[in-house]
Amino acid sequence: MNDGDGTRGAQAQGRQFGPLGTTLVIIPTYNEAENVKAIVGRVRKSVPEAHVLVADDNSPDGTGKLADELAALDDQVHVLHRKGKEGLGAAYLAGFRWGLDNGYGVLVEMDADGSHRPEELPRLLTALKGADLVLGSRWVPGGRVVNWPRSREVISRGGSLYSRLALDLPLRDITGGYRAFRRETLEGLGLDDVASQGYCFQVDLARRAVKAGFHVVEVPITFVERELGDSKMSRDILVEALWRVTAWGVRERVGKLANKAAGKQGKQGKQGA
Ligand code: GDD
Ligand code: MN
Repeated sequence: MNDGDGTRGAQAQGRQFGPLGTTLVIIPTYNEAENVKAIVGRVRKSVPEAHVLVADDNSPDGTGKLADELAALDDQVHVLHRKGKEGLGAAYLAGFRWGLDNGYGVLVEMDADGSHRPEELPRLLTALKGADLVLGSRWVPGGRVVNWPRSREVISRGGSLYSRLALDLPLRDITGGYRAFRRETLEGLGLDDVASQGYCFQVDLARRAVKAGFHVVEVPITFVERELGDSKMSRDILVEALWRVTAWGVRERVGKLANKAAGKQGKQGKQGA
């Protein structure tokens, strides 16, 4: 299902997509003092019309203060200070709310450590002209990872494969965190009841988007492992992802079986009448 322009996804059967509106790039940070200035600068340079929101969880290393300094010099840079480390999911939910309240038309997710190259953002935004949600994808033709240890690649590929099978999703990179949403898409995902805290937040949103019938397109990206600072990936984050994905998968299958049984009963009932 390659659409010829390097993107992947089901055809959006003759659908018209509205104009995009102003872009807000949300960058969650926890101890990214070595990275925050460079990433904000790269975003501002690559997509000069976009705004940036740094969503900092009161990083002990002073990332929030550095972000404030950037914001003081640039009207298109904003900072959301959160009280403490509550996970990637919570930081993004707060960032989305801020962006929706402030009227942005496109909301982008991007890591602070340079793994998601701002120079590729124009391609994601171009794809969003014909989609509801664009996923930057490492695991479609043309996508790749640079400098990742083999162990990390195995976890990531395995996580996507497991999610794809358990949740029956037609997507290759389900855990990735480089994405562009139209505001209407976020408004249609029911964000108020998202409980995912860690990186399974990404699986949760992809799953909700597909189930809601949104047109989701994967665009190949080159993911470059960070050179500065540390990954926040942990055992707890993996365990949360595993149990939540499994629970969603089981719930869906039970739901489908129950529907089937109800359908059969309905038919039998009619035949009997
Ligand atoms: N505010 C906030 N709060 N930010 C956080 C938190 C948190 O609790 N945890 C992580 N972050 C921020 C980091 O500071 C960074 O900007 C971004 O989220 C990604 O964190 P990393 O620690 O660099 O993630 P990774 O490189 O190990 O994981 C990547 O791959 C995952 C699996 O494919 C990321 O792209 C994830 O988004 C992705 O799910
Ligand atoms: Mn990273």
